[in-house]
Amino acid sequence: MLDLTEMRATLAESYDLAPSIELAEEMHEIHEKMDRVIPLPDFARYAPYIRAINKLKREKNAVILAHNYMTPEIYHGVADVVGDSLQLAIEATKVEAQTIVQCGVHFMAETSKILNPSKTVLIPDMKAGCSLAESITADGIAEMRAKYPGAPVVSYVNTTAEVKAASDICCTSSNAAQIVRAMDSDTVIMTPDQYLAQNVANEVPEKNVVWWEGSCIVHEQYTAKDINDFRAMHPNTRIIAHPECPPDVVAASDFSGSTSGIINYVETNKPKEAMLVTECSMASNIADALPEVDFVGPCNMCPYMKKITLEKILWSLHTGTEEVIVDPEIAAKARIAVERMIELSQATAK
Ligand code: 13P
Ligand code: SF4
Repeated sequence: MLDLTEMRATLAESYDLAPSIELAEEMHEIHEKMDRVIPLPDFARYAPYIRAINKLKREKNAVILAHNYMTPEIYHGVADVVGDSLQLAIEATKVEAQTIVQCGVHFMAETSKILNPSKTVLIPDMKAGCSLAESITADGIAEMRAKYPGAPVVSYVNTTAEVKAASDICCTSSNAAQIVRAMDSDTVIMTPDQYLAQNVANEVPEKNVVWWEGSCIVHEQYTAKDINDFRAMHPNTRIIAHPECPPDVVAASDFSGSTSGIINYVETNKPKEAMLVTECSMASNIADALPEVDFVGPCNMCPYMKKITLEKILWSLHTGTEEVIVDPEIAAKARIAVERMIELSQATAK
């Protein structure tokens, strides 16, 4: 268990972590990637951690895989690879360094371990969970199979290794419709995100999609009324929603896609104003690269993703904790479901 007081005392003895404007100015190339959202005095607090983490990464032969929901000081300061769940899974298969530090939530770290089992996979905070992953167990998969005999189970990667192992194939938000369309069955079971499943059902009407009742605590909070009220006040804002949002929210938006799909859409279309109907760090991470875009409207924070901080990343590298272990038998079965997804999504990519 992470003891924050002990962690801070040990880190302060081992590294020079005092805020420093001078160091922040020296590290201007990194700061420039986030100075629209992180002013110099704040960056002065992060700079000593960024310096220490990047040095330790080299010494310990480690790479940092970071999800698009990480805060800008992690995303731009210390990550070696950033991406959505699918991109991170694919990148995990290619890692040659001995250690992967997964800056994201626990199921992402498990996916890296499943796909690259000889590596040490660390997560800076074991408590970085996910409401979707917590909503279903392997028993839930068995229940769905009993209810819909013969139907294949497509499980979102936002699930535990055990659930993946009990599924036929995985999907992410960037390939869910593609995977469901490719299933050789009229009825397809999707777990655990009811809203992703309902959005896929709308996109793939030729399939009878049935679902588990899980949801993401970040995206379920948005309502179509919020979107329509916002649009009435800001008619020129481009509204872009993640498919973990309820289907009427997606229908009221201009575009829906995975976190990287959202980034690509904004980079390509460069709207004057954009509202990202997703986690708050998304807009912060791309604000500097897109000075012509104003990011407006409310966003929701994922409390699990926000458990990952620079000081915990430094601690993780310093101590080699917390290691993510997956039972090898479960990992072998889960690997089949994740690799099937990667192969199928690459084979059927447009
Ligand atoms: P993607 O990055 O795959 O779109 O997933 C979003 C998410 O909520 C991950 O937890
Ligand atoms: Fe899970 Fe939602 Fe947080 Fe993603 S944003 S980790 S789906 S709770």
